Amino acid sequence: MTAPAGTARSTGARGFGVDIGGSGVKGAPVHLDTGDLAGERVRLPTPRPSTPEQVGEVVAEIVGTAGWTGRLGVTIPAVVTRGVTRTAANIDPAWVDADAEALLRRATGCEVTVVNDADAAGYAEARFGAARGHPGVVLVTTLGTGIGTALVHDGRLVPNTELGHIEIDGVDAEHRASEAARERDGLAWEKWAKRLQRYYRTLEKLFWPDLIVVGGGVSKKADKFLPLLDLRTPIVPAALRNEAGIVGAALLAAGEGTGARN
Ligand code: BGC
Repeated sequence: MTAPAGTARSTGARGFGVDIGGSGVKGAPVHLDTGDLAGERVRLPTPRPSTPEQVGEVVAEIVGTAGWTGRLGVTIPAVVTRGVTRTAANIDPAWVDADAEALLRRATGCEVTVVNDADAAGYAEARFGAARGHPGVVLVTTLGTGIGTALVHDGRLVPNTELGHIEIDGVDAEHRASEAARERDGLAWEKWAKRLQRYYRTLEKLFWPDLIVVGGGVSKKADKFLPLLDLRTPIVPAALRNEAGIVGAALLAAGEGTGARN
């Protein structure tokens, strides 16, 4: 049995992860062999508007404050293919079709790998968190402003799954089942759980995962809604919480997870 993140002592290389969110941009160095942060976490507010140039300056400031000059992994709430952001959820539309990696490389002077936010968080959960060492198909969902998903099979990530946008009863799933939808509609846990039930049942019918992990800020309150779900798949809360994006970004930038670049 391997030790959980936080208890193993690192002996190896470090990476650096930056997590770009709707309200904050956070970055920290990461021990790649344990998933622990290797130094202080720096957080700055997400600029308004959150255009690529403005966000680039904030990322550069974080990296500069930390004194980091090596390779960077950066998460973004968008589909990312070959370093180009293809969509933009809760971030300025100017990111659509932006060459995010080239832009952030120019801004920071570092080599940069840009990845989808849920892919980073999900990969970190698979590697060091709630799905650590779990064989087979692991589906990680992040419940927040939207729903992000990461699909990991035997330690390899299938990037950009975007299963928050599966259409159920003619409606984009995240519009009804995200944490933002719960707040917007003032739903009691039981009511929200009914929507989650429908969502997760649909996912398990289509993907037959061996384990589902639930992340996002609301996973801190998992005891309020996970016991209300009736699924054939085991479903557990995320373990790394706030730091999953940073850790996953650093791991994916170091070439883990996908084998080849997406
Ligand atoms: C976006 C995903 C993102 C998720 C969580 C969704 O609306 O389409 O790319 O991972 O929100 O931020």
